[in-house]
Parts: sequence; C-alpha cells; structure tokens
Amino acid sequence: MAQVEQSLRGRKILLIVGGGIAAYKALDLVRRLRERGAQVRAVLTPAGREFVTPLSLASLSGQPVHESLFSLTDETEMGHIELSRSADLVVVAPATADLMAKAANGLANDLASTLLLATDKKVLMAPAMNVRMWLHPATLRNVAQLRADGVLFAGPADGEMACGEFGPGRMSEPLEIVAAVEQALAGETRIPLPGDAATNSSLLKGRRVVITSGPTHEPIDPVRYIANRSSGRQGHAIALAAARAGAHVTLISGPVSIPDPAGVEMRKVETARDMLAAVDAALPADIFIGAAAVADWRVEGAADRKIKKTAAASPSLTLTENPDILAHVAAGTANRPSLVVGFAAETDHLLDHARAKLARKGCDLIVANDVGTGTGVMGGTSNTVHLVSRDGVESWPLLDKDEVARRLVERCAMLLAGSGST
Ligand SMILES: Cc1cc2nc3c(=O)[nH]c(=O)nc-3n(C[C@H](O)[C@H](O)[C@H](O)COP(=O)(O)O)c2cc1C
Repeated sequence: MAQVEQSLRGRKILLIVGGGIAAYKALDLVRRLRERGAQVRAVLTPAGREFVTPLSLASLSGQPVHESLFSLTDETEMGHIELSRSADLVVVAPATADLMAKAANGLANDLASTLLLATDKKVLMAPAMNVRMWLHPATLRNVAQLRADGVLFAGPADGEMACGEFGPGRMSEPLEIVAAVEQALAGETRIPLPGDAATNSSLLKGRRVVITSGPTHEPIDPVRYIANRSSGRQGHAIALAAARAGAHVTLISGPVSIPDPAGVEMRKVETARDMLAAVDAALPADIFIGAAAVADWRVEGAADRKIKKTAAASPSLTLTENPDILAHVAAGTANRPSLVVGFAAETDHLLDHARAKLARKGCDLIVANDVGTGTGVMGGTSNTVHLVSRDGVESWPLLDKDEVARRLVERCAMLLAGSGST
C-alpha cells in the first residue's frame, strides 16, 4: 500500500455521523483521516445508526462511539462539553437537512446538536441529501445562517443520487472532505467568543513573551534517555493564546508530538541545558512563562556509546542537578522580565509546595496543578489550576487547557498593565 503523508498527525477530529444514505462514506472517511495520523472520535445520531453500526465506527476509529446525551458513563468519563471541545475540529458527515436545521437555529435536544452548540471549535459540514431537500428555501436559509455563523462546508457535489434523482446534494467524496479538513486545520481552530483575549489582538500588542513547554530528555547514552509524561499541551496552548493576543511569542519546546502553534517563533530543544541556553538567547522579554516540565536531574557523564548489556552487573546511574531555569530567569538583573510565571506540578500538598516554590524561585506567579495519579492532567486535555501569588491563592474550576491558556494570558496582560511596565 502506498505511504500516505501524515498531514493530520496528532490532530483530533470529532466526527458526527447523521442519518443519510451517505453515512457509509463516513466509514471510509474515518479510515482516510486515521491513515493521515488524525485521532477520530465518532458521534452517531439515532438516524445515523439506521445506516451504519456503532461497531463499524468504533472498530475503524479505535475509540468508543458516542450516541446518547444522557449517558451516565460518558458524563462521568467525558462530559458532553469536554467532548465538544477536546477536538481540534468538528466534522459533520453526512450533514443531514435535519442536523443543519437544528444547528442553524441553536437547538440542542440530542447529543449531536448539543455538541454543535457547545463547541468552541470550527465546524466543517459535508451536506448530503436529496436535491429537492438541498434546494428547499428552508435548507438554503439554514446554510446561509450557518455560513454566517462561521461554519465551513465541503460540498455538496452534483451527481446522481441514491434516490435516482440528479443534481446538487450528493456528499463529497471522503478524500475531498479530508482536503477540506486539512485546510480548516491550517488556520485557527478555535472560534473566539466576544470579549475573549483571542478576539482582542491588542491585549499584548508589542509585548515579547517567552514560553517553555513540554518535557526535557536527558540522555543516558546515545539511544536512551530519562523523560517525563508532559505532552506540552498546556505550554503550547498558552503560546497560541499569547500570539492571538498580539504578543511576539518565542516558544521553546522539549520533544513533543503535538503540532507547533500558529504564529509563534519555535525553538526546539532536548535537554534542560539546551532549554536554558535557548531561554537566555530569547530574552529580553516582558513576560516569561515556564510551563515546561524540566527534568530536575540529568545523568552525570552520559555515555557517548550505547551501554552494552553484560552478564556481569547492571549499570548504575549517578544523577546530577540540572540548572533551575525559572529561578535563573527570575533572578536575572538586567534581563529580568517584568512578569515571571512558573508552573508547579505536584502530586501532594499542592498549595504548600506552590507557595514555597514562589518564594524560593523569586517569581511573580505560580500556576499550580495537581498531577497525581488519576488526575489525567499530564498528557490530558483539561486542567484544574490554582494561581498562587504573594496576594493569595485563586482556584479555577476544571477547564480545557485552551481555556486555562486564554485566562492566564488575560491575567498576565492585567498584571503587566498593573506593574506599570510600558
Ligand atoms: C432511506 C433514507 C435515507 C435518507 N437519506 C437522507 C439524506 O441523505 N439526507 C438527509 O438530510 N436526510 C435523509 N433521510 C432523512 C433523515 O434520516 C431524517 O431527517 C432524520 O431525522 C435525520 O436525523 P439526524 O439528522 O439526526 O441524523 C433519509 C431517510 C431515509 C429513511
């Protein structure tokens, strides 16, 4: 089989399959998206279930299929709000006349329509219906409304239909929908809300922001390393939010498997020492946000050849302390940013450790998050954070990492304005 370019590597698609004959093409669409590296989570409407089975969709997507709004299991494991926001793009294929009518009018009386109303991500619809249904003034009105609301469309195409008629209304082919998905993901994926930092592109206009993200890899020998579970999602989301707020952003990232955020200057590094050098090179800045999970230790005298397994004894590793990037930036004299923000990932005594870290490192704000077993924060898409400053502690509810990023950027802009830094 020909090698397919991983053009959607790491991208998350929420696919809503409506009740039309073209639902069979949604199965191929899942396959095409996945072979390009996308993760696909499917939602099947009750009418969609008449055309394709949840089993086929689950087998092809490799993920459970969601069908009911009132599913207790889904609400405890993944609520409908998170389901609607954890994807990078929501795709509706086939988009029935009924689903489009509901979405155009803001109805939310089943899982699919509720997700479409609750999402903060772009929505791409691939309509499929009989030509008369497509050309009906009600459908045309709905399509015009959806376009005005920012919904993207792939097709429909002209052609012969399953019902024997000919004309517009046939669902685009899976590869055409894949091309539309790639195009939609090439730009911004989040639809801004009025009054949000993302829409206010002047909030950090003219400011320089340096952000670290992801884990560091500390070599043991040329093929082995010590790492941690950081995915880089939180740091990357902050970089994107800061760029959207008008800042010039340098994002210094350890090895991650998520895409580079749009509109930021990337510096890719491996070790804590590389990260420190990249941070120093990126300064001066108005704001420094250390969201990376920098390894506290590295292996002393890492081998320059692969350590061979011998019968004699297992090798022992001696660890030595890595540079403390946050403390180094906060202590900087000439180059100290006006605002230095650190992250504290703790498994116990979260706030005590965060307060101690604030004092020890000399930074202005600590974003503390509980990364204990079962929280799913490390590598996950949501986060419960506490902002610890000298003024006290402010706790935010469980939020999508994008939302944590947006709020944090807003807060940094406020603090910067309050510090009198111009
Ligand atoms: C055999 C058959 C084929 C259908 N094909 C379509 C179709 O292609 N497009 C469409 O909009 N509705 C079609 N419908 C009607 C939808 O299934 C119906 O409007 C349903 O309520 C849609 O539900 P949903 O939008 O929640 O999936 C078809 C119905 C039947 C019985």
